[in-house]
Amino acid sequence: MTTFFSRNALPALIQGGMGIAISNWRLARSVARRGHLGVVSGTAIDRVVACRLQEGDQDGLVRQAFDAFPNREMADRVYARWHRPEGLPEAGAYRPVPMFSADPPAHLLELAVIASFTEVWLAKRSASGPVGINLLEKIQAPTLPLLYGALLAGVDYVLMGAGIPRDIPSHLDALSQHQPCSLKLKVEGGEDESIPFDPSQFACQDTPILRPKFLAIVSSHVLAMSLARSGGVDGFVVEGPTAGGHNAGPRGWSPAANDEPVYGPKDAVSLERIKALGLPFWLAGGQEEPDALQRARELGAAGIQVGTAFAFCSDSGMDPRVRLKALAATISGQIKTLTEGRGSPTGFPFKVLPLPGTEGGRAAAERIRQSCLHGYLRSAFRKADGTLGWRCPSEPEELYVAKGGKAEDCPDRRCLCNGLLATAGFPHKLKEGGTELALVTTGLMENLKRFLAHAEDYDANAVIDYFCGAEAKLPATV
Ligand SMILES: Cc1cc2nc3c(=O)[nH]c(=O)nc-3n(C[C@H](O)[C@H](O)[C@H](O)COP(=O)(O)O)c2cc1C
Repeated sequence: MTTFFSRNALPALIQGGMGIAISNWRLARSVARRGHLGVVSGTAIDRVVACRLQEGDQDGLVRQAFDAFPNREMADRVYARWHRPEGLPEAGAYRPVPMFSADPPAHLLELAVIASFTEVWLAKRSASGPVGINLLEKIQAPTLPLLYGALLAGVDYVLMGAGIPRDIPSHLDALSQHQPCSLKLKVEGGEDESIPFDPSQFACQDTPILRPKFLAIVSSHVLAMSLARSGGVDGFVVEGPTAGGHNAGPRGWSPAANDEPVYGPKDAVSLERIKALGLPFWLAGGQEEPDALQRARELGAAGIQVGTAFAFCSDSGMDPRVRLKALAATISGQIKTLTEGRGSPTGFPFKVLPLPGTEGGRAAAERIRQSCLHGYLRSAFRKADGTLGWRCPSEPEELYVAKGGKAEDCPDRRCLCNGLLATAGFPHKLKEGGTELALVTTGLMENLKRFLAHAEDYDANAVIDYFCGAEAKLPATV
């Protein structure tokens, strides 16, 4: 694989990681080919790759990536387990992938390792620039296998937020040496559990790995200072409350109702304090003006991270029917993005587009509490017998309460895993009947009309040209 960039040169523009599979390999590759940092989302990528295989892998690209995986027997085993040459028997009839737990079966670990390898490998295929992977700290159980697979594919950056990713740098050190490590799993109502991970079980030790840079995504200078003290962080993405997806809550915040969180002066991030840490940083959230990059640099930043503008371009992984409908509805002023205080089971504010025909367009009274099919946002809890259980405040209330959860945690929650997979074009059949509805998360969309002045759609190049000028594109192959 040939790369045209220096690992020491900092990207001016980062295309933000957007789960589930919105920032897929196609989008990240389009950005990386222009020499900027393209970021694939690692969230639920095990399931996404299993879905692509079940749909038949019609273009053979997953097979190509599997052929490049260092352990051929393992690649063949995972392929044989999930590939359906004839495709799905009916829409949404995917075979279930087991949920991650503290003790996942070997075949699930193998799927996770090779799935994140595949996504990064495809993004870096032929002549590409720098590629990163984005993971959420909140989703813990799959983290180590996903990191290892990405490292085997030569990922250049790991970006992580939605929590305090303090242990990630030491995991990257260990995994880059193919050394075992263990992840501290938070357990509600009990002591943390340790999840061991041993790379030797994948027999890939002969593959040399360059430790990727680690960028922590933060919304406060206090957290940035604390992470810098812990060491191993190579920079920060400083994300403001207008950013798409999950946001940090205002200081001291706990929503009683599903109100939009209100941010005040105490939530302002001191860029001076961040600059004083001596590490590069990028500004994210509402970077909309054509001179955003220049202004960020004047504030001491290395550049900007942009999400929403890329999420709605034609290279994104969003189901095109949902994407174009969302663009039309926002640009015509019919709907606006909302920040829901309680929608997400994570407890973080979460941005939702109230688009008719999607989960976000359903009023609270119309929402159906669904059985969890995917389980990424479940929390571990300690059962009375000492074993681990898993629960999510979005699941049917009686199930959640039977597992010791508090009924008051449940109102207003939405099932994000189900909805976000549907938005990426993988809607699953529900146990309750019907198929998952898409759920669109996004930042500010009104200004996306600037990309549509003379056309009905736009691509990632248009976003890059807007922020960085139309400098030469890298060739696709060498
Ligand atoms: C559709 C969508 C999904 C996102 N998902 C994630 C995610 O999985 N992890 C993450 O760290 N940030 C996520 N983000 C935030 C972006 O990476 C980025 O920081 C943010 O969108 C920048 O603000 P902007 O949308 O105003 O450009 C998401 C944003 C969008 C629009």
